[in-house]
Amino acid sequence: LQISLIGVPIDFGQMRRGVDMGPSAIRYAGAIERLEAIGHTVIDEGDIHVPNAAKLEVHPKLRNLGAVVEACSQLSMLVNKAVKQKQFPLILGGDHSIAIGTLSGLAQHYKNLGVIWYDAHADMNTADTSPSGNIHGMPLAVAMGMGHEKLTSIGGDAAKIKPENLVIIGARSVDAGERALIKEKGIKVYSMHEVDRLGMTAVMEDALQYLKDRKVDGLHLSLDLDGLDPMYTPGVGTPVPGGITYRESHLAMEILQESNMLTSAEFVEVNPVLDTKNATANVAVELMGSLLGESLV
Ligand code: ARG
Ligand code: MN
Ligand code: MN
Ligand code: MN
Repeated sequence: LQISLIGVPIDFGQMRRGVDMGPSAIRYAGAIERLEAIGHTVIDEGDIHVPNAAKLEVHPKLRNLGAVVEACSQLSMLVNKAVKQKQFPLILGGDHSIAIGTLSGLAQHYKNLGVIWYDAHADMNTADTSPSGNIHGMPLAVAMGMGHEKLTSIGGDAAKIKPENLVIIGARSVDAGERALIKEKGIKVYSMHEVDRLGMTAVMEDALQYLKDRKVDGLHLSLDLDGLDPMYTPGVGTPVPGGITYRESHLAMEILQESNMLTSAEFVEVNPVLDTKNATANVAVELMGSLLGESLV
């Protein structure tokens, strides 16, 4: 693959500072070398410029709105450019608010995009349902066309993804408003209950078949490191116990690789300030290896 590597050093989508150092931590953990060793070409776009939030629009229910809009608009354009050049976009976060930009960029090309959201959370709040005002808890709502106009209009007014093309894996901390939305839209969720009960192999095979049946024209993996149990990935801002294991996660990545469906990926919420010796970035890089074909080398 020709991989377009894009860093998004932003920590404005939530309140724990330091997740803006995620791209550095992941690079330091050897992401580029790891991908090149598999045989991929990495085109490193560097990190996008994230403006000072204090100088931009603030909103009582959407923390640092202006800065998130700016960063996501830039990211959307870079992702779109990468796809046009037939590159595989690989985005390094930054908090999960960046997925607003990623999905916007992908939607310029993929009209029936499938999304796998690997996360402890559903990230489907709006300003009205959010318990925190943190935009990293809102990207999926925005991508489905719900939320503040400044967010939903990035890269065009149309919704970026269809609720029936979304699969959430690993959920175990879902807010009341998110539950209602999941029910209303009939969104496919494999919570920790299903991961435990069915096993990761069945969950992934089922999820991929579901997306195939929907005839998706691309598949994006959005991997929040808090999807894993904090035992393996302690460097995240919103850890939730009872998560996916290290081995289950590698297995999930390998099954995704074998499916040949994947067209882009992002790794988010790595916060080296909260981490132990860069363990979380190291896990991110190891998972990238499995996702992009290491076991086949
Ligand atoms: N549901 C909570 C909120 O809306 C937590 C969101 C956590 N999101 C994340 N990307 N880590 O604030
Ligand atoms: Mn900062
Ligand atoms: Mn999360
Ligand atoms: Mn998330």
